[in-house]
Amino acid sequence: MPAPASIAVIDALTDWWEEMGVDVDHARVDALLKAAEQAETAAAPQVAPARSRGKKPTNWVEEARNLAAGCDTLEALKAAIESFEGSPLKPSAQKTVVFDGTPGASLMVIGEGPGAEEDRQGLPFVGKAGQLLDRMLGAIERTRETNAFITNVNYWRPPGNRNPEPEELEMCRPFVDRMIELSKPKLIVAAGGVPAKALLDTGGGIMRLRGSEHAFRTAGGFTVPLIPLLHPAYLLRRPQEKSRAWRDLLLVEKRLGELGG
Ligand code: URA
Repeated sequence: MPAPASIAVIDALTDWWEEMGVDVDHARVDALLKAAEQAETAAAPQVAPARSRGKKPTNWVEEARNLAAGCDTLEALKAAIESFEGSPLKPSAQKTVVFDGTPGASLMVIGEGPGAEEDRQGLPFVGKAGQLLDRMLGAIERTRETNAFITNVNYWRPPGNRNPEPEELEMCRPFVDRMIELSKPKLIVAAGGVPAKALLDTGGGIMRLRGSEHAFRTAGGFTVPLIPLLHPAYLLRRPQEKSRAWRDLLLVEKRLGELGG
């Protein structure tokens, strides 16, 4: 059986086909991407959780909670996240990817977690999907440099770009909540199903969650409206879904106007 193509090769090919106007069979591409992801995950070094003999194992969620609670500025929180050793994803990642953009902006975008390019540069949403996100934000006159703040629900690249596991998200969550409390956005956009489901603590899919506003509350009691958006990586694979994303972006723009952002 031939080895599965890499994710990068499949992405490049589909992009090229789409640019050439070839009618892409998305079901087939998704199946190929799944096989590639599984192959890359299997090939990635398996990192065992750190253990020390005779010592009570660290409760990493509690540790994250304590660290986050002690931070009164975004810079202190960034340093705390970078110093955190609890995530099993950290040893195989090159960088800890925390946030980018304008601290205190009225719009906060929260994605799933770093991919290959983000892991190289140490910044969220700087690969192809990130470039599309920048264009989407630009369409509603938002830029990272002036009025948007960007982060993720997980700070370390999972091997083979698999989805983060629930327990990996759970130990990042106190940091995510504290970041929201310190940034005080007027509106959150959850980019994709993973952050939307994690933040809203629901099993519903992104297609059901998108298109409307939800109420989000941090552990510390800060409440803010949240609008889920289709992930830009998904939109790169399914450009025919861009009209849905556009409608959702218009809702974001309208709500920011109403909220005084
Ligand atoms: N996808 C995400 O969800 N976040 C990033 O930072 C990059 C890609």
